Amino acid sequence: MHAMRVELEAVVNELKRWRDAGEDAVYLEPGTLDAVRAKVAELRAAAPDEALPENQARDTSPAFEAASSESRGSLRPRIKQNADVIKDFLQQSDSPSTAPKKKVAKKGAAKAGQGLPPGVKEIPSPTPFELPEGDKQARWNWLRDHVLGDPVCQEHLRPSKQVVFGVGNLDADIFFCGEAPGEDEEMQGEPFVGKAGQLLNKIISAMGVSREQTYIGNIMNWRPEHDKPFGNRAPVEAEINYCLPYLIGQLEIVQPKVIVALGLTAANGLLGFDPERRMGKVRGQWLEFSGVPLIITYHPSYLLRNQANSAKRLVWEDILLAMAKVGLPISEKQQGYFKG
Ligand code: URA
Repeated sequence: MHAMRVELEAVVNELKRWRDAGEDAVYLEPGTLDAVRAKVAELRAAAPDEALPENQARDTSPAFEAASSESRGSLRPRIKQNADVIKDFLQQSDSPSTAPKKKVAKKGAAKAGQGLPPGVKEIPSPTPFELPEGDKQARWNWLRDHVLGDPVCQEHLRPSKQVVFGVGNLDADIFFCGEAPGEDEEMQGEPFVGKAGQLLNKIISAMGVSREQTYIGNIMNWRPEHDKPFGNRAPVEAEINYCLPYLIGQLEIVQPKVIVALGLTAANGLLGFDPERRMGKVRGQWLEFSGVPLIITYHPSYLLRNQANSAKRLVWEDILLAMAKVGLPISEKQQGYFKG
């Protein structure tokens, strides 16, 4: 029974990551949904004290409203039907700030309200630091060494994995900001080198520039630990807060003309955590972070799951805005990518 719960929680983690990347709906085969319902019912029967919340009224929250209904057409009704089960899962293991009080108390104050999985050490407040004097390269080298040697980053690594610091051109106009390293990144010690990274590379080359001409960093410097057999966990606020000064340090050094935040976690890290923030509402418009123009768009991993041209177009429109802002030439061909 424990294994089943762990696997369901792994699914929840992955769904939360999807949500944070910008996913607003999930399609499940009816058979899958039946299997999930059966497992939830089994869990409820076996451990009523820890039961998942009963399905309440059908979910109508914006998190699962259709943003690209034209692309999914006939799937929409089934997606909506699934929404209450998925929402139920997400609420069950959401962070204490959004989860019902009763459950928080049961999970224990031992986690000090940080919402970390069992066995993960609490995250302290960030330690203040000052960038040294010097040129960009010297300051960047100092910060990189400082972050790679940070004992908190180190103690949250899996065995033989690496802390991940940003890479790229220290004079870059465009600074891409992702959320957290995944499996490939923690192995190679570089951001965006897995599948999402390959897609980001394609986006960058469609802009007519190379990855090396941009700067790529993450809100988090280590892969958030979890006890699940697969998948990733979205970082909690305390983890983001701990790493944020390191991202700010990189922004201070690079001084880009534009920040492109990839996904909601990046947006929440930069703008302050807001559980109500929705990708459909915040993308495609200019915001600001510390005086630097900021555009938020879907995370590349969202595009790996949603291959519709309409989804690619939304991201591309955000990228076009960024290109225009930094004065990159935009051809007619580029202007029309993913239209129709
Ligand atoms: N996703 C991210 O947000 N960052 C990475 O480095 C890799 C995947």
